[in-house]
Amino acid sequence: MTKYIKKLPTGDDILKSSRFEKAKNVTHHKKTSVAEHSKKTAEYGTRICQWLERHNVNVNEEDVVRACLLHDIAMTDDRVHSSVSWKKAYRHPKRGMQIAEEEYKANDVQLNAIRRHMWPICIIPPKSIEGWVVVAADKCCSIWELTHRIDGIERKNYINNK
Ligand SMILES: [Fe+2]
Ligand SMILES: [Fe+2]
Repeated sequence: MTKYIKKLPTGDDILKSSRFEKAKNVTHHKKTSVAEHSKKTAEYGTRICQWLERHNVNVNEEDVVRACLLHDIAMTDDRVHSSVSWKKAYRHPKRGMQIAEEEYKANDVQLNAIRRHMWPICIIPPKSIEGWVVVAADKCCSIWELTHRIDGIERKNYINNK
């Protein structure tokens, strides 16, 4: 999975940040961490970008990777994390957008993609194709995580393989 990320210097500052470090210890989808889920979402995002590019669709891969890496970053925030699950689902995109702007200098495309990544739970859809790629990547990744057994050594590798 990380082979895709390693090719892309665009996410290095995020991957090395203290908040992303914290995300390695925040459980997500009961089986993995926010950090691992975010990196896997970025992998799906790059694959979708490459598929679109093969079909002559212009998409900014850097925006997709950065938004994927940051889309659930608010799960590291205690105000979001301590709320009940349905509130967390509604709250984390907005707080994630604020964190992305304040701490990672995210641009407007990335901010909108983070804000709208929970579509259709959040009714308003993303504005850009990059935002739609993040929605698709997050859904694919979440379905994979929720339908595959990740335990024992494999789970340990998920959490520790950085
Ligand atoms: Fe999310
Ligand atoms: Fe997600």
